[in-house]
Amino acid sequence: MTEIRQLKVKDIEGVRELEISCIKEYFAATIENKWEDLPQEWKDNLGASSKNHFKAYLDSGVSFVAVEDGEVVGFIFAQILHHICDEDNLLWIENMGVHPYFRRNMIGYQLLRECVKKGREMGCTVAHAMIQEDNAPSILLHKKVGFFMDRREVALMDLRDPKLKL
Ligand SMILES: CC(C)(COP(=O)(O)OP(=O)(O)OC[C@H]1O[C@@H](n2cnc3c(N)ncnc32)[C@H](O)[C@@H]1OP(=O)(O)O)[C@@H](O)C(=O)NCCC(=O)NCCS
Repeated sequence: MTEIRQLKVKDIEGVRELEISCIKEYFAATIENKWEDLPQEWKDNLGASSKNHFKAYLDSGVSFVAVEDGEVVGFIFAQILHHICDEDNLLWIENMGVHPYFRRNMIGYQLLRECVKKGREMGCTVAHAMIQEDNAPSILLHKKVGFFMDRREVALMDLRDPKLKL
């Protein structure tokens, strides 16, 4: 029986391992660089479960894990952002994943639903998730929970780039 519950400090190791394996999966499918060739410091900072980011998701009250036999088999990392996109309280879903062995058992669905339910209880008026356009499982999952997809492309700028001319 899978338990869906809020993220706790004790989950750090299990959830880190699972998030990294989901990120590796994404890299293998989309990015030319081999995971092993990427700088360690860069890899250490990836993901919501990384050292610098975990606490924000832990404290947010809207991050959840799925636990089976004491092992983390799914996660959703989210936080509430204030005064953004014309909203006072926006539920920002940063990342989610389910262990490949446990997929298609409605674990992702339950995680996303709990997160949105809790966000709503905490005063969020909008939920936001960024999903790659080729990620059909995730798109279909979000639609099933009640999200709609728009065609927005996101433009990014690296503000730490020393060559930046501003
Ligand atoms: C996306 C992901 C979290 C879905 O988790 P899951 O537990 O397998 O999903 P669920 O079993 O709860 O599926 C719920 C619904 O989502 C859709 N769905 C999920 N996986 C699907 C797939 N592989 N193909 C088609 N539809 C899929 C279906 O509508 C499904 O309902 P149904 O089973 O009644 O058809 C999982 O595939 C995953 O971890 N992927 C890798 C990481 C990732 O892409 N994360 C999202 C980043 S935005």
